[in-house]
Amino acid sequence: MAGRTAPPTAIESVLSETRLFRPPKAFASRARVPDLASYRKLYAASVRNPGAFWAKQAGALLWRGRWKKALTWDPPFAKWFVGGKLNASENCLDRHVATARRNKVAIRWEGEPGDQRNLTYEDLLRETCRFANVLRGLGVRAGDRVGIYLPMIPELPIAMLACARIGAVHSVVFGGFSAESLRDRMNDAQAKVLVTADGGWRRGKIVELKAAADAACAGATCVEKVLVVRRTGRDVPMTAGRDVAYEEAARGVPTRCEPEALDAEHPLYILYTSGTTGKPKGIVHTTAGYLLGATKTMEWVFDIRDEDVFWCTADIGWVTGHTYVVYGPLSVGATVVMYEGAPDAPEKDRFWDIVERHRVNIFYTAPTAIRTFVKWGKDYPARHDLSSLRLLGTVGEPINPEAWMWYHETIGGGRCPIVDTWWQTETGCILISPLPGATPTKPGSATLPLPGVVPEVVGDDGKPVPKGKGGRLVLRKPWPSMLRTIHGDPDRYVSQYWSSVPGSYFTGDGAHRDKDGYFWIMGRIDDVIKVAGHRLGTAEVESAIVSHPRVAESAVVARPDELTGSAIVAFVVLRGGGKGDNALEDEIKAHVARTIGPVARPAQVQFTELLPKTRSGKIMRRLLRDIASGAKQLGDMTTLEDVAVLERLRAEYGEE
Ligand code: WT7
Repeated sequence: MAGRTAPPTAIESVLSETRLFRPPKAFASRARVPDLASYRKLYAASVRNPGAFWAKQAGALLWRGRWKKALTWDPPFAKWFVGGKLNASENCLDRHVATARRNKVAIRWEGEPGDQRNLTYEDLLRETCRFANVLRGLGVRAGDRVGIYLPMIPELPIAMLACARIGAVHSVVFGGFSAESLRDRMNDAQAKVLVTADGGWRRGKIVELKAAADAACAGATCVEKVLVVRRTGRDVPMTAGRDVAYEEAARGVPTRCEPEALDAEHPLYILYTSGTTGKPKGIVHTTAGYLLGATKTMEWVFDIRDEDVFWCTADIGWVTGHTYVVYGPLSVGATVVMYEGAPDAPEKDRFWDIVERHRVNIFYTAPTAIRTFVKWGKDYPARHDLSSLRLLGTVGEPINPEAWMWYHETIGGGRCPIVDTWWQTETGCILISPLPGATPTKPGSATLPLPGVVPEVVGDDGKPVPKGKGGRLVLRKPWPSMLRTIHGDPDRYVSQYWSSVPGSYFTGDGAHRDKDGYFWIMGRIDDVIKVAGHRLGTAEVESAIVSHPRVAESAVVARPDELTGSAIVAFVVLRGGGKGDNALEDEIKAHVARTIGPVARPAQVQFTELLPKTRSGKIMRRLLRDIASGAKQLGDMTTLEDVAVLERLRAEYGEE
């Protein structure tokens, strides 16, 4: 199993986790869902009659035209709220500006150097309208794709909401991705306009976004215009006829722009994510179902209140940022904190400094970040008053119980419930999670499904496995915020998600359920690796390695890593055979970082003369994983073509 998968022994140890944390009374008494019985009632209603249930929930959105049918299910293609009209940006902005929230701060932004901007809902609406008008002026129309490659600055949500306002489909690419990754995504999406910046701040250095955007556009001729937002104030080369300085283009442009009434199923965005093959998948989310999922989970899981300050630390380049920095919190009219830079800039207490100064009430981050904080030590959080916090969340990979306990005690002061939220780029919003006022939590378990979500753990035959047994995590029923397809490749949508367990959506994760029905996610069982919460396809990393002129063949696997969950180990066969030296190892690592982005850099490169293969020529990754994780006993080798290869590899592993 790839990724941070637990070997069978670890499943046992997880099962022995018996600590149970009940929602604190003070929290539960004010919560929307105040006890387990209320959750069970809500859940039962949602599965008894999903149509009626979601019809009622849909009242959480502002509609421009009434929909006819909650769900149209032509497996595996779903349409939700067909016939309905709405606009996501109107839901996130105008509807609040029409109320007492008009002057409420929507975004409390902080740059890494310490500069700050507060945007009220009215400010955000005006800026969004202005941006939308600029996009229109560049020829962007409903249905056109717009690439966004920005640092974590307010213009990022503004650009997204501006697209949503005019019906353009945004495709945000994480600012840490390379020019090549950006180019491939722009080409796949056939983006007409790319929004970027003159740079961004990260650990005191400028991230050269514009240079990467230029390199990407050289190979993505679909991009007609590049809109350049000013962030660092440095001069960057501008290509005449193509590049447009945003501030100049925006001068004198009206700050009003009518939101377009769009179909419920109008695509809202495409977000690329790694799969089991080399080519990233453009996950398509549509307007109404996605926004409803984002909105309801803000209420159910984060129990958001009007007076809360909400901080999800994810970069908006990932789905977590799309849903819980932008669409979810803004749809419910919350105040969000947004931070541009690194957690250790200028010092390792930056996050706690932000929590204290902005009086953050709800804090949502990744296990890999928590493990880093554990490593840095308690002194950093101890410098700050964290008493404003009332709820903590995690997402992205399984959290080990020790990290959970540290989070609970050191950050949460023992008083904040923790929501361990399981979901994926494809699911659009949280699907399995405690409700903080209702669900007793067990460190390491994502606990129970949200209303309308029907997960199950099944064996290879697709049949449910007994409680306590591991298997594949599937979803039996469609849900509103589900992906609709893979952009430009509906066949891949079907084969990737709906074929391995017929009739069900296969998540790619392994899991088991305990006697209380709680879900324990064990990590990926396909060829996807989660490094520091970032999702990478082994095939993608391999193709980057093989593009190095000296490499003939490569196989990439994950080994457990204390900090990042998993680390990448690359087994590499050189052209013409022979062993590489340290310099070549470094060169290959740098090559991968350049080709995909620093997140994909292998932790280790192991040169080998041959890769272990089956007689039919398939690389036996399972055995490589055993070697990389230092397993004493290698798995079944009966199908291996040449046992000697493996023995040699095992003996050599880790040697210089
Ligand atoms: C994969 C999806 C959607 C949030 C960010 C990640 C793993 C996510 C948890 C959790 C155990 C988790 C799964 C999943 N994952 N949350 N709470 N416990 N594992 O989105 O990059 O699409 O990755 O992240 O393996 O399949 P993503």
